[in-house]
Amino acid sequence: MYDHLLDGKDNFSADRAACDHLLRQVPSMKALALNNRAFLQRIVRVLAEDHGIRQFIDHGSGLPTQDNVHQIAQRVDASSRVVYVDTDPIVRSVGGALLETDDRTAVLQADMRDTERIFGSEQVERLIDFGEPVAALFVSVLHCIPDADEPVELIRRVRDRLAAGSVMVICQLVSESPAVREDVSAFMDRETQGHWGRVRTRADVEGYFRDNGLRPLEPGLVEVSRWRPEAEPAAPPQLSFEWEEFGGAGFVP
Ligand SMILES: C[S@@+](CC[C@H](N)C(=O)[O-])C[C@H]1O[C@@H](n2cnc3c(N)ncnc32)[C@H](O)[C@@H]1O
Repeated sequence: MYDHLLDGKDNFSADRAACDHLLRQVPSMKALALNNRAFLQRIVRVLAEDHGIRQFIDHGSGLPTQDNVHQIAQRVDASSRVVYVDTDPIVRSVGGALLETDDRTAVLQADMRDTERIFGSEQVERLIDFGEPVAALFVSVLHCIPDADEPVELIRRVRDRLAAGSVMVICQLVSESPAVREDVSAFMDRETQGHWGRVRTRADVEGYFRDNGLRPLEPGLVEVSRWRPEAEPAAPPQLSFEWEEFGGAGFVP
């Protein structure tokens, strides 16, 4: 569904029908997806160009689109290494064929909550040097897990494995309206047959960083199209964001 919202080609008629239904209910979803993807692409380039990051672990990577993390990072330095992690078997099969174009990029089918398995995997052991800084990405994915799975603890488990100077990139769907939080969470829960977590608040996302001692890079935590914008964001068909992707990047101390 996300691939279809991004005008990608790797989706099925069932995905397209579900998106049509979703967009009738939440028309801002497409602009939100486009702006989120543009944020991911900007932040990877900034980390590679300005902060010398050469290793990336992308949790909940999704299907490959036009400009993926490894392409952006390898344009800055061809030796950059990327491990994509996603629980969706379609990402493993389609993504594997499209993304594993070189021996510096790998796709791992795993649940991002299974930190032990991810960090012990052949792909991570082969490509990631934990003596050097790593960027761990959680872009538009923490709303896929419920509170019971403790997103703050998940971030901590990953942070604890990273060298000082590493960076964690985190954003998720938030709303400051309790009604929107409840409605959207219930709607998405139904649409995804329970494979859904929760729309949270800006304060929740701020807690992911603060409670884990992550020091935010400029401009701090923001609606993602405001993170160092380079072009006009895709405009949602409403006047205001009733929900948004909110987050940023923070250094591991
Ligand atoms: C909205 S997409 C985000 C894709 C990409 N990070 C981006 O921002 O462009 C969410 C992705 O997270 C994946 N996902 C959801 N829950 C997951 C989990 N528990 N572990 C790993 N991946 C998960 C989904 O399969 C989907 O590909």
